[in-house]
Amino acid sequence: MIAAYQARCQARVDAALELLFQPPRAELQRLYEAMRYSVMNGGKRVRPLLVYAACEALDGDLDRADGAACAVELIHAYSLVHDDLPAMDDDDLRRGQPTTHKAFDEACAILAGDGLQSLAFEVLADRRRNPQDAETRLQMLSALSAAAGPAGMVGGQAIDLGSVGLPLDQSALETMHRHKTGALIEASVLLGALASGNADEIGLKALQQYARAIGLAFQVQDDILDVESDTATLGKTQGKDEANHKPTYPALLGLDAAKAYALELRDQALHQLRPFGSQAEPLRALARYIVERRS
Ligand code: IPE
Ligand code: IPE
Ligand code: MG
Ligand code: MG
Ligand code: MG
Repeated sequence: MIAAYQARCQARVDAALELLFQPPRAELQRLYEAMRYSVMNGGKRVRPLLVYAACEALDGDLDRADGAACAVELIHAYSLVHDDLPAMDDDDLRRGQPTTHKAFDEACAILAGDGLQSLAFEVLADRRRNPQDAETRLQMLSALSAAAGPAGMVGGQAIDLGSVGLPLDQSALETMHRHKTGALIEASVLLGALASGNADEIGLKALQQYARAIGLAFQVQDDILDVESDTATLGKTQGKDEANHKPTYPALLGLDAAKAYALELRDQALHQLRPFGSQAEPLRALARYIVERRS
């Protein structure tokens, strides 16, 4: 079920994303090429999928969720471009291809990331591409900027870089993961719920708890895969966390306990969806997929 759903949503968000990379002037050809290269390269599109699935869980129309789906993927793609830079994780391979700074150059990769970030907010603010009322667009802008910014993903990346070689305890590790990865996943679910136009307080609360659990589970599984997958399957260099002396769940708890924790978080997420009917099936399938995925 998840493979078909994923293919359908990927095609949908990819069609909307593809429209964003037309350079407005010839001099910007290379910048736009680098931005397109960083986005249109076979990402799993988990965050857009969460936007669509949350919208569907609240009986929303998916046509209204395309702008939010693009925006979260643009932020995610930017975060990966910068995460891979030599000053950060120094990675050469991403989504099975040379990282943006390898395919272009470092300055171009920095600017491409900057451009993708701004573009995300431009899309959300644009009534044509994000057909919500002004109040909802403002709520979306506020949620995504908070999740992406210094109190969210950027803060998590700062904690990550500041923790190299340090033995973090489980609470510090959880804080880091919730910021660097969980925040954007939580925002994806919230934006999808808002796009439905049917979000009430009880529904939002349950979806928020669901997102909190899978947001952490996603990075726990990312850490596990860095240990036990292989470079060809991952599309990024396996074993980089250990090589870069990063604190991770497998390093702290051991591989088996990290896997058990990921499953526990999945179950917590599924528990939150109990009040929902079959329209939350895609969200349930995504919770399972996040901890079962091999790449
Ligand atoms: C990788 O994210 C980086 C993390 C936040 C853990 P994904 O595993 O979603 O990467 P893509 O988008 O499919 O390449
Ligand atoms: C990524 O964490 C977090 C963000 C990009 C925000 P990682 O550094 O573990 O991601 P990968 O493993 O390089 O994809
Ligand atoms: Mg990193
Ligand atoms: Mg990295
Ligand atoms: Mg990783």
